[in-house]
Amino acid sequence: MEIGPGAGNTLDAIRGTREFTGGATSETWGYSQDYLGPLLRFRRGRTANISVMNRLDEPITAHWHGMHVPGYLDGGPQLAFGPGETWAPELPVDHPAATLFYHSHVHGRTGPQVYRGLAGMIVIDDPEIDDPLPHDYGVNDFPLIVQDRRFDRSGRMTYSLGMMDRMHGFQGDQILVNGVIRPKLTVPAGLVRLRILNASNARVYDFRFTDGRQFHQVASDGGLLARPLAMASLQLDGAERAEIVVEFSDRSPVSLVSRDIGMNGVMNGGMMGDRGGSMMMGDRGMMGDRGMMGMDGNSGAPLEIMSFDVGEAAPAGPTRLPTSLPSDAPALGDPVRRRNFTLNMHTGGMMRGGMMGGGGQTMGINGAPYVMDRIDETVRAGETELWRINADMMMRHTFHVHGTSFRVVSQNGRPVDSAQIGWKNVVRVQGPTEILLRFDKLASEETPFMYHCHILEHEDAGMMGQFTVT
Ligand code: C2O
Ligand code: CU
Ligand code: CU
Repeated sequence: MEIGPGAGNTLDAIRGTREFTGGATSETWGYSQDYLGPLLRFRRGRTANISVMNRLDEPITAHWHGMHVPGYLDGGPQLAFGPGETWAPELPVDHPAATLFYHSHVHGRTGPQVYRGLAGMIVIDDPEIDDPLPHDYGVNDFPLIVQDRRFDRSGRMTYSLGMMDRMHGFQGDQILVNGVIRPKLTVPAGLVRLRILNASNARVYDFRFTDGRQFHQVASDGGLLARPLAMASLQLDGAERAEIVVEFSDRSPVSLVSRDIGMNGVMNGGMMGDRGGSMMMGDRGMMGDRGMMGMDGNSGAPLEIMSFDVGEAAPAGPTRLPTSLPSDAPALGDPVRRRNFTLNMHTGGMMRGGMMGGGGQTMGINGAPYVMDRIDETVRAGETELWRINADMMMRHTFHVHGTSFRVVSQNGRPVDSAQIGWKNVVRVQGPTEILLRFDKLASEETPFMYHCHILEHEDAGMMGQFTVT
């Protein structure tokens, strides 16, 4: 990964090739690279001018996932541009320090386009804060873009959706970090910051270190937490980010692994095996938050993500974690409006076309699949709202909202400590989920904001809606 956008701040969406495994060459896409895009580093208070050139043979977009920009700069489906065209937004960087995501967002094509490689990480730096965490890029501060991919017998990357992939989202069996299968990273003996982005189409990770060591989460989707949060494992759903700080001063090599989480969000192994299909029956006992959590002792082998070797101590950088962090936490106040969203695995479209009817839209929100020229909600800028999200079947989804960050208020009827969870723009939905949010950026009918499930195959199948902010 490089730092900063390339020369002239251009991102060229291009075809590439890469050997991931087995010596076979896969056809990939990237933004100015053969696969994925460069790390974009934006400074709060500045304007980021980027021109995105489409050198592929189908329309693409560049969506700045998590960044607070008005609808016409957001890179949603309405802003698709065709082969040979350039899109050159001027992005006012009005966002706290954070680790964000960028990716293509063409309606019906987000899954395959992101899978091919049209995705990358954005880091926002805030010159107004004195960052007390390791922040020396490539020395004690590393981006980790985690993805799962499927390869055929020769080692070529594949994406074709079977029935289960459409239902649960596409999952691969090999894990890539920054485009490489199970890489090894040499880190300094000391505190190291890892900016983890789950850029997988659907897979959920439950990260931990092989020696069970504790680490601290310091940021979530929208920026720094109020204080470092100690933990030994961390779950990230698709598109979620977390920054963690890990102590490597004991110099022992260690690996980062993930417990295998079944397609319905339950730990695999033990009683469930990998019969993800039982999701259809919706056995709440199995699906509950605690479900199989205690049973991992006999689950399958963890997925290996990457390994760490420890070198010399870094010449500079903090040696202790601060007790509090310079997080950005304006109060949202009480909601003046409530809205309900039900994520539908089936809508009327299914009855007519057949659920597996080959790429047609069958999923939806509030009973209807996404339609590009229908505005589903109209929101007033500056007013705090409470959104309640639910799903029509027992299945794990996510809910992502463009244009702002939100607080999670409750999950499954239990209040959530939002100070611990921090600012989010994607949240897991595994039962009724309430979020509190307010929009300050505007979005017109021509370029509305989206809300959708971030399981990309669900989004592509119509589990998305859109709204204006005026
Ligand atoms: Cu990550 Cu609507 O997107
Ligand atoms: Cu987004
Ligand atoms: Cu979903």
